[in-house]
Amino acid sequence: MSAHRTALEGFEPFEYDAQGRLRCQGLALDELAERVGTPLYVYSAGALLERVQRYKAAFAWAPRLLLCYAVKANGHLALLRLLAREGLGADVVSRGELERALRAGIPPERVVFAGVGKRPDELERALRARIYQLNVESAEELSAIAAIAARLGVEAPVAFRVNLALELETHPHLATGTASSHFGLPLDEARALARSLPEGVRLVGVHTHLGSQITRLEPFVEAAQALIELAEALKAQGHPLRALDLGGGLGVAYRRSKDSKDSKDGMKQEGAVPGPEELGAALRPVLQGALEELELTLVLEPGRSLIAPAGALLTRVLYRKRVGGRWVVVVDAGMTELLRPALYGAHHEIVPTRLDAVAPSASPTEPVELDVVGPVCESGDVLGRRLRMPLPERGAVLAVLDAGAYGFVMSSNYNARPRPAEVLIDKGEARLIRPREPLERLWADETNGRPILRLESPKPEGS
Ligand SMILES: Cc1ncc(COP(=O)(O)O)c(C=O)c1O
Repeated sequence: MSAHRTALEGFEPFEYDAQGRLRCQGLALDELAERVGTPLYVYSAGALLERVQRYKAAFAWAPRLLLCYAVKANGHLALLRLLAREGLGADVVSRGELERALRAGIPPERVVFAGVGKRPDELERALRARIYQLNVESAEELSAIAAIAARLGVEAPVAFRVNLALELETHPHLATGTASSHFGLPLDEARALARSLPEGVRLVGVHTHLGSQITRLEPFVEAAQALIELAEALKAQGHPLRALDLGGGLGVAYRRSKDSKDSKDGMKQEGAVPGPEELGAALRPVLQGALEELELTLVLEPGRSLIAPAGALLTRVLYRKRVGGRWVVVVDAGMTELLRPALYGAHHEIVPTRLDAVAPSASPTEPVELDVVGPVCESGDVLGRRLRMPLPERGAVLAVLDAGAYGFVMSSNYNARPRPAEVLIDKGEARLIRPREPLERLWADETNGRPILRLESPKPEGS
């Protein structure tokens, strides 16, 4: 019991009660799993909103702050609506995310649009909607924007997304601000482009995004300094800059138990991962004066650090078996529901939702070393490797913690598995915000098809 209590320290909103039942805002998660079935994502509105308040308080020194939630982290409309009510904007990377944000009531003037591959129709929609800014990632994209803006008779507000070529300690797939990354414009190129902006484009901001799951403050400070220098230079050239956009990327402490080792995924996951308070305090000396002087709004695009800890994935134990001296616990969720462990070797704490479900007479009550694996036919379908916990009973429900970000949004139908259900817990009430995907939907659009292209003179069969 105590092992789990320790592992859960700092994992609010998921807490054990005195009877050893894991609860979220008072509601028992095993009961929720019973009602809705598993796999099931559970989010706490309270935990999300608390993190929003922490960000706002941590950056209260900024003359103007625009918090643009990174929709890619978790774009469920119910969550976006909560954030819209808090006055948040959105950082989007596709037309779909833009439509989600607008549909949820996020005003277009609080939307920023990044991404190396924005299609012409996406650019047009963003310009027609009059979003706050397009974060431009290449010279060719800038020309495309200018052409579309000219056709629409509007002036496109753009920010240059610069790649600052920093050294970053995160998983290579999550680093976007390193020299070899394909995101953003090199500083020199951004400066050169600013000297010959095409017609129809107004340079209103400077932007960078370092990457995700960044657990040190120095890269943010370095990036802020570089953006200020760039903004000063561009303003001096007469560009009507109004925003300094530092992107998102602040990490969360996925691995919190004190005896855990750094995972081999390159992410520093233990110990003190800075929160918004530390980030705000580190950036204030660099940014506050300069933002005032240059009359710039500070834009931040947090995703993971807002929503990851507010969510958990509930999954049921199907079978246990011994493989090569260790226990393997087979559960009904896997890489199709939560891809992060398979994709990045990422770690998530996994705990039982009932502590009495780990001590049946036939099972060891002491912690054992075990892997938690999913049902997908891939050897990489492992949700948790070499975890130390008492062997759970068959049928027990486990909670995969910190699963609110890059969880459901990365889920897939591989192995013809329907997407999981989602529940939002708000003010002591659990609401089913997405039912489990019905199986029939998996093949609803599949037909034998109608011809759409034909050879003029078909070759004879077998030639
Ligand atoms: C441009 C941009 N902004 C913000 C984010 C959000 O990052 P995070 O969820 O790590 O805060 C991302 C994620 O990769 C991104 O690409």
